[in-house]
Amino acid sequence: MKDRVNLAPVIAVDGPAASGKGTIARALADRFGLPHMDTGLLYRAVALNLWRWGGDAGNEFEALRACDDLGFDPGDPELRSEPVSKIASMISAYPSVRTALLKRQQDFAAQPGGAVLDGRDIGTVIAPHADVKLFVTASAEVRAQRRLKELLQRSMNAHYDDVLADIHARDERDAGREVAPLQAAGDAITLDTSDLDADGAISAAIRLVEERLKQSA
Ligand code: DC
Repeated sequence: MKDRVNLAPVIAVDGPAASGKGTIARALADRFGLPHMDTGLLYRAVALNLWRWGGDAGNEFEALRACDDLGFDPGDPELRSEPVSKIASMISAYPSVRTALLKRQQDFAAQPGGAVLDGRDIGTVIAPHADVKLFVTASAEVRAQRRLKELLQRSMNAHYDDVLADIHARDERDAGREVAPLQAAGDAITLDTSDLDADGAISAAIRLVEERLKQSA
């Protein structure tokens, strides 16, 4: 982007659940010395508030109230629990919730020191002028295997068929909502990680980002 030419880059990393986008975004931030924001955590923080209050995820007004307090501990294991993941996916469809979380993300993306943000709508809504946009994807089956492994490692009781059904349901909600649905920006580079392990996906992402930055230099 021309008017950012002298600034550190903004890198947008979008993709569906368990595609590897979080791992990739953290590695890119590390490699290029940029601050990183996992925007899914904001939606998860709202979901956790709502869950703790016993609020109704089917009610947009209650979900919006849960945006009032966004002080959360990123290490809280409940943020990544299955009920909170499901509620996060539900409340992220509400336009008022998305608006309430918008400024925090846009401000992060506008830092002069550059930034890496990962989520669903970074390249399309939050940072449409990002210098590099990656759309990280993988087959639903591979993503379900990864999620299952992660749950079992955390000693949680889980079955492949349930995890796969949950991935399909989440994909449908994230891609089917009217506001800021999950979709690749027109100028995003797609990285399919189905056949890659974490190291392979990180190396491929670094290569793609370096190439794109070189082209725009
Ligand atoms: O990336 P994640 O799985 O932690 O995100 C949790 C939920 O938040 C996900 O179901 C969709 C939503 N989300 C979103 O709508 N937009 C974002 N930029 C990030 C997450």
